Amino acid sequence: MSIKIRESVALAPFVTMRAGGIARFFVNATTPAEVEEAVIWARTKSVPIFILGGGSNVLVPDLGFPGIVIKIQIKGIAYEDRSTLSVCVIAGAGEMWDDLVGDTVAHNLWGIENLSLIPGTVGGAVVQNIGAYGVEVCECIEWVEALDILTMEIKRFSHDECAFGYRESIFKKNKQLVVIRVALGLTHKETRRTSYEDIKKYFTEKNIQEPTLLEMREAVVAIRTTKMPAPSLGTAGSFFKNPVVSKEQFEDLKKRFPEIKAYIQGDKRVKLSAAWLLDHVVNVRGMRIGDAGVHERQPLIIVNYGSAKAEDILALAEKMKSAVKEKTNILLEEEVVMMRA
Ligand code: EPU
Repeated sequence: MSIKIRESVALAPFVTMRAGGIARFFVNATTPAEVEEAVIWARTKSVPIFILGGGSNVLVPDLGFPGIVIKIQIKGIAYEDRSTLSVCVIAGAGEMWDDLVGDTVAHNLWGIENLSLIPGTVGGAVVQNIGAYGVEVCECIEWVEALDILTMEIKRFSHDECAFGYRESIFKKNKQLVVIRVALGLTHKETRRTSYEDIKKYFTEKNIQEPTLLEMREAVVAIRTTKMPAPSLGTAGSFFKNPVVSKEQFEDLKKRFPEIKAYIQGDKRVKLSAAWLLDHVVNVRGMRIGDAGVHERQPLIIVNYGSAKAEDILALAEKMKSAVKEKTNILLEEEVVMMRA
């Protein structure tokens, strides 16, 4: 056996929330074959499996995980030129997402620069279809290779087969699929996306009309650094998704909250800003339970200010949810995934 399975491993250091209990078993998998080996081992032991990437969107229960946590560490970034402008970039699921962004920007390739500084791995980015500053990763994804741990086959999913949605994909719904490699279609052609409010403001203040690729990355890094908690604090980014409601529901809310922040979706539905609701409809800034607190500059983010328990984090999340529900009848949905068997 080439894999090394460890027993009773504390999980807090492996998740950005820095909270939670112990994994009964833990293994690093650096190749698809090692993932298979770990899965077969789990089957023979009849223990549940949890696939972990960068741990930036996962909450570990205080009781820990009763099975095996398989941490995906499949590396590699390859560039395949397709024409003078278009390049296919193939990355291993275990690469850190922002390392990939930095590398593609260094290769002068446009496409994912607005997704700079998002924590987590390439695999995690695909599973939850990360998005920021007007871009979602699915826009660049050409195909994804995933291991089906029931059949042990590696299958290539076309863009359409990935069934991407807002923070959704087939890989998030279907836990038997483990992302192995991802192909992104990027371009040397300038395709800057500057329409998101914060980005526009940043370049207006700097008096830059046509930012370069590097300037785009720098802008996103600067905005995130000022708006998001310092990386030394435990967080999992946005704890909730922005709720999507019907047009009628939106009109109704707008009567009561004329300033409500909303983005019309193509399908006549409306995405509301959860941060705005949490800030202006209910005021949760500074709310705390134990060491778990709501971030002062972004109420969508729950921060572990020290030694918060998963229990505190969940209690705080529930408190935020019921406050919003009471005032708006909207039930916020967690973006963060709970590690459970
Ligand atoms: N707002 C407030 N008060 C605040 C902060 C924000 O009212 O204290 C309002 C403002 O009106 C602001 C709006 O909320 O314009 C939106 O805020 P922001 O630009 O920070 O974006 P978001 O919708 O809260 C989403 C993603 C983030 C992503 C940002 C930037 C989700 C759940 N979150 O947040 O993604 O970085 O846009 O594009 O879609 C993540 O998914 O973990 C994540 C961090």
